[in-house]
Formats: sequence, C-alpha cells, structure tokens
Amino acid sequence: MWEYVHMFDLSDAELAEKRILGVGDGPASFNAEMHALGRRVVSCDPIYVFTAAQIRSRVEATHDRLVEFARQHHDTFTWRHMRSPEHMGEVRLEVMERFLRDYEAGARDDGRYVAAGLPSLPFADSSFDLALCSHLLFLYTEQLSLSLHVAGVIEMTRVAREVRVFPLLMLGNAPSTHVGPVREELERLGYQHEVRRVPYEFQKGGNEMLVIRRV
Ligand SMILES: C[S@@+](CC[C@H](N)C(=O)[O-])C[C@H]1O[C@@H](n2cnc3c(N)ncnc32)[C@H](O)[C@@H]1O
Repeated sequence: MWEYVHMFDLSDAELAEKRILGVGDGPASFNAEMHALGRRVVSCDPIYVFTAAQIRSRVEATHDRLVEFARQHHDTFTWRHMRSPEHMGEVRLEVMERFLRDYEAGARDDGRYVAAGLPSLPFADSSFDLALCSHLLFLYTEQLSLSLHVAGVIEMTRVAREVRVFPLLMLGNAPSTHVGPVREELERLGYQHEVRRVPYEFQKGGNEMLVIRRV
C-alpha cells in the first residue's frame, strides 16, 4: 500500500474520503490493505478472469526473470524503497500473497476485483472520485499504441473525476514518447492536465505522475 500512497502522492484525506478505482492493479495489495482498514477500493484488470492459483503461478513464473533483469540493470533503479534486486523480488511476492488472501472473496462477495481493461470500463459515468493507473500506460509505450493511451485516459476520466497515471517513463527509463501527444489531445478536448512530482522513485527519474481532470 505504501507504494501506491507514494506513487500517487495520496493524502490521508484522499485515502479516507475518495471513492478510488485502480486500473491495471494486477496482483498489487492496495485494495486488500485498504479493505483491511475498512475502506472500499475497486480494482480492474484483465487478469481477474483467472483464479488465485492461476495468478500465483503466472506471477511466480516471472519472479526469477525480473530479479535477474534488476541485477543486470542495477544502475537504472534507485534502491531506496527496495534494498536490492532480491529484496524487490521478495516484496513483490509478499504483496502478491496479501492480494491473493483478499482476491477471491473480494471479487465474489464485494465486487472489488473486476475483470476488465482499457479502453472500455464497465462502470457508470462518475462512479469514482479518483482513478489510479500505475505501471501500465506510458511504461508500456512500445507495446500499447498512442490511440489506446488517449482512449484509455479519456475512459478513466469518464468513470472518475480525477485520473492519476504513474510513471511517465518507459521500460528502460526513457521518457515516454506518448506523454506529449496524449497531453496535446487532452488540451484539444478541453481537459485539465498537469505533471506533478511524487515522493516515489524506483526507476531513476521516474518520480512524476500525470493528473487529468474533466472540466
Ligand atoms: C506491471 S502490472 C502493474 C500492476 C500494479 N498497477 C502495480 O503498479 O504494481 C500491469 C498490469 O496491467 C494489466 N493490464 C494489461 N493490459 C491492460 C488493459 N488494457 N487495461 C487494464 N489493465 C491492463 C496487466 O494485467 C497487469 O496486471
């Protein structure tokens, strides 16, 4: 949960009061930890079509490769929040276990885990105050088209009053080439948008989020 709080610079008041949607939350534990505090967060991700066991095996299957990648690209990360590639791997598995303990009951009894993804979300207009999207748009600039980015951001502003997207870097730490064109399109359509610094930086230079609001 501390990662989401810092990536999106969430204040105590926002955590206490806002109706929050996580888009592309995957095996993150923000929803589970907020639930334990008596708060309701809704998460959506295409992987929620899978069972807990299937998600565990998918995440475990990538563990060694991610730790090895972080070892090989050690200097491209800050190692402030995470001490080492091995520690990063352990944290990722602990987070997943926390998520998995909440996942099936949270999906079945509370509708807090919804199998859905951008560019089309199954929620009514303005159902949320805040939509949070981390490590999906902009990070996967080479895999996801500009038109998906634009449509995805606009869809999130349909269901939430405010949208925050983190980080603005691609894999490999170069600034995403989609940020400029997405902001130009938002400007043309009359949305408010600003880049805001956040107190989280794992990819070196990755300490900014894009904040978008419908006017
Ligand atoms: C790198 S993970 C990030 C998980 C989490 N947000 C975090 O920061 O720890 C990216 C997630 O995006 C999900 N995803 C992929 N395509 C998506 C789409 N079109 N809409 C929503 N989520 C998507 C993946 O299933 C995956 O769980």
